[in-house]
Amino acid sequence: MRAIDCQDDVREVLYTEEQIHARIAEMAREIERDYEGREPLLIGVLKGAVMVVSDLARELRCPVKMDWMAVSSYGSGTESSGVVRIIKDLDADLTGRDVLIVEDIIDSGLTLTWLKSNLESRGPNSVEICTLLRKPSRLKSDVPVKYIGYDVPNEFVVGYGLDFDERYRHLRDVVVLKPHVYGGEEEPEPARVEVEEGAG
Ligand code: XMP
Ligand code: MG
Repeated sequence: MRAIDCQDDVREVLYTEEQIHARIAEMAREIERDYEGREPLLIGVLKGAVMVVSDLARELRCPVKMDWMAVSSYGSGTESSGVVRIIKDLDADLTGRDVLIVEDIIDSGLTLTWLKSNLESRGPNSVEICTLLRKPSRLKSDVPVKYIGYDVPNEFVVGYGLDFDERYRHLRDVVVLKPHVYGGEEEPEPARVEVEEGAG
């Protein structure tokens, strides 16, 4: 078993690197089928989607182009408001392009709702969304998401591009951190139950 980086800070591994790669391969097969004969433009939303874009792009067996956009969503605390500012715009002209927005995680969906309509106003042939993770219980927008890696519970997750205060992006797995990382109280370890060999 591979040692987990920052192990002391990790409460739980939600998805291992191997699981993520397998799921991205499945998504790539779907995308290849849907875009047959076309060359999608993958638009990675910085910074969280860097790992997803790089793994997805290398998994796809079709020609793709890549571009990057950085946006910041105004909001109070951890809630995004849907009022978005472009920090870094695309280099590419979207006229006639088949755009695939690639995200790390969709929470309320408000940022993406704004981004999708912003990109649609630039004359592309199509705009679709691909995300590795989605928190369904938090969704406030019915923005259509065509490719979804995993639906996750409403917990703050890091790793594989996702950060807490710019840390943990480099972790290969998607994990939940221990409360002490956020300055919270540590939960007691669950009592260990001895299970006889062969049981369960
Ligand atoms: P909305 O609410 O507009 O926001 O869908 C999506 C953005 O919120 C951030 N986000 C997270 N980042 N772990 C993170 O590292 C999380 O669990 C998480 N939930 C939301 C993220 O920047 C995402 O692009
Ligand atoms: Mg993001």
